[in-house]
Amino acid sequence: MEDMWLECIRCRKKFPWNIVIYTCDHCGALLDVKYHFEEPKPERWREKPLSVWRYEDFLPRVREKVSLNEGGTSLHRCKRLAEKLGVENIWVKNEGENPTGSFKDRGMTVGVSLAKELGSRTVACASTGNTSASLAAYAAKAGLKCVVMIPSGKIALGKLAQAIMYGALVLAVEGNFDQALSLVEQSSKRLGLYILNSLNPYRLEGQKTIAFEVIEQLGQPPDAIILPVGNAGNISAIHKGIVEWKQLGLIEQVPRLIGIQAEGAAPIAHAYKKKEKEVVFVENPETVATAIRIGKPVNWEKALRAVYDTNGAAETVTDEQILQAQKLLARTEGIFVEPASAASIAGLVKLLDAGLVDKNERIVCVTTGHGLKDPDTPIRTCEKPIQIKPDLEAIEKIVAQ
Ligand code: F0G
Repeated sequence: MEDMWLECIRCRKKFPWNIVIYTCDHCGALLDVKYHFEEPKPERWREKPLSVWRYEDFLPRVREKVSLNEGGTSLHRCKRLAEKLGVENIWVKNEGENPTGSFKDRGMTVGVSLAKELGSRTVACASTGNTSASLAAYAAKAGLKCVVMIPSGKIALGKLAQAIMYGALVLAVEGNFDQALSLVEQSSKRLGLYILNSLNPYRLEGQKTIAFEVIEQLGQPPDAIILPVGNAGNISAIHKGIVEWKQLGLIEQVPRLIGIQAEGAAPIAHAYKKKEKEVVFVENPETVATAIRIGKPVNWEKALRAVYDTNGAAETVTDEQILQAQKLLARTEGIFVEPASAASIAGLVKLLDAGLVDKNERIVCVTTGHGLKDPDTPIRTCEKPIQIKPDLEAIEKIVAQ
């Protein structure tokens, strides 16, 4: 594919698309996938169903697509939530509707297809849960061996259930996500593992389709997109999609990208607040939202670029605010998301209170993972079922209360 190559985001060094490389051998920064795009022809995709591969004109070309029918998630207009928050227009892009219940599937359909294209036999990742669930599923579909490294005792039950059911080799590392990712990176060369964490530029190509879908579902770009940030791949991917469509003349206005981190794991939000160009890593990240319990986000440089280039922002929310937002969304809109996803709603509430988001803005919150991924949280935070005898009077008494 002469029209596609990899390029360092810092020193711009170019690499062929078909070598296994994740960082620049000159300066160490991450890489982007670059293309010589042809003039876009919307009629080529308008008839296709909403999905990742609807946008294949903007994705790497592969001989075989490893797909479970990902993307095409709902953009819910949230009238009751908007009313509660005193604003006009809120939509939720519910990525929990993907095949394994998170946005990671968008990345994996492209990333695992590339793994096959490049002849890899074994794929691997470190994960706070969703990446491992998704990679395990796509590896199974592709017939590849899969190794996942998770922080021991710190991933939600549903995600662990998925990874083991799909047949991955699951290694529970006695350490946090950042340590697990470092181990994956160190062992990849020696063991011939193809890494599918978000430092793999091809994975982000799939995830950029969130931006395309939102734009097409709304008929135009929103004013702001708010999303949770952990390893910071998703905000970087959405930014890349928006920039590409802007450069191709498919959109005029660029939405502000606003990343939300949990207070105990917020290196990017802290850097943004100080208007820094570099981040200070957090050694012992902690949050109830285990999916984003990350102190050393590999994509920090791409993420800061996304925030600064779009006049966006990065904000922190407390665990309490996350859990409240999770209930609020479930109980006003019927959308049950996992705690990390609720960070986007919690962030919106905080930014509205602080006047940093305008009440008239058209806002899209991305909810990244399904609530059933983490059944322990509602069991801990919600009302317990009321135990009763099988007796009509007892029921009447309680229901009439
Ligand atoms: N929301 C959920 C539900 C996630 O699982 C993650 C990341 C994020 C948000 C943050 O996305 O890393 O692109 O900034 N989960 C990864 C994992 C780290 O291993 O599943 P990001």
